[in-house]
Amino acid sequence: MKIGLLGFGVVGQGVYDLIASREDMSVVKVLCRKDVSLPGVQVTKDFNDILNDSDIDTVVEAIGGLHPAYEFVKAAIEAGKNVVTANKALVATFYDELIPLAKEKGLCFRCTAAVGGGIGWLSELERARRIQTIEKVGGIMNGTCNYILDSMTRLGFDYTNALKQAQELGYAEADPTTDVEGIDTWHKAILSSNVAFGICLDSATVPVAGISRIQATDVENFKAHGLVCKLISTGMFTKGKVSAYVQPTLVKFGEPESAVPANYNLITFVGSASGRMSFYGQGAGRYPTAYNVVQDCADVLLDKGFYSPCGEKVKAENTDFMRYYVRGEKDSWLEENTAETWGTAIISKPISVEAMHVWLKNHPEAFIAALAE
Ligand code: HSE
Repeated sequence: MKIGLLGFGVVGQGVYDLIASREDMSVVKVLCRKDVSLPGVQVTKDFNDILNDSDIDTVVEAIGGLHPAYEFVKAAIEAGKNVVTANKALVATFYDELIPLAKEKGLCFRCTAAVGGGIGWLSELERARRIQTIEKVGGIMNGTCNYILDSMTRLGFDYTNALKQAQELGYAEADPTTDVEGIDTWHKAILSSNVAFGICLDSATVPVAGISRIQATDVENFKAHGLVCKLISTGMFTKGKVSAYVQPTLVKFGEPESAVPANYNLITFVGSASGRMSFYGQGAGRYPTAYNVVQDCADVLLDKGFYSPCGEKVKAENTDFMRYYVRGEKDSWLEENTAETWGTAIISKPISVEAMHVWLKNHPEAFIAALAE
């Protein structure tokens, strides 16, 4: 396999290092804006050098972001090259275009590192869905958010210092807003639901709430009630209906999610035959992520295509009821829906996920967290 590697940042360099010692694949060209010198490899600033090289059969995209990653990946597929990427924003956003295009061209498209970094999540989901109905997917999918929430809970850090540390350790995306506002988890949840249920979720119907407004006083409140806050994604398929959302969630001390430390992820599916299966590992970082990119390259050598068929466009219906912790300005709707008070925050009566997120949109200063039942 001859690889054109797009990007030489945290993940790109990791991929390059892991492939360097292999005999079944080699990186022959690297697209990089900086002047780097790599033995035996042509480093270029022009994507066309890779696109027009007929010796290159596989493009590994490690640039991140939507543009120009989308244009490069689409052009690579149209030129007959397999694609491996860790870019969840790209795959979740252009799912119903890129997946069918690769299939039509008879090419492999893999993105295992896009969800869970080093965890073999999508590749196992592919196997899981072959022989059973997947009823639920989700869990802790963002290392940066988990690192922040864990530091606040276990070490008593405030939000700002915990975020700074996560950035210094290289877990956060270039713009940490994507992590802390839950967008990274949202992309991963959409992608996982698409693969698990064989659909193409309408992303506009998947609400997301992040952790950026959590305060040390919230964490103290949770601890006093035996609860831990985690950013949790949910995708469910019940009686032909799909629900999907991302939100801070309060889990009881002792539940598996409550014990997930640092940048680790814990991702779960529930299958009709297997029941609950959970996957734990490093969800971010150079070598864990590069590990799954190289696993995908090995799967391309075995001619493995995408994990599931690209199904029809489906709207999420988030009518499940749950109780919420809400700290924010009280209005008549919130007062009507208050069941009890925890310091300056309230615990709501059971309300639908949809209704809670509509209220949150109009109260951008508020912090909410669902109570896991
Ligand atoms: N910023 C992401 C995280 C990287 O913290 O999990 C992996 O997607």
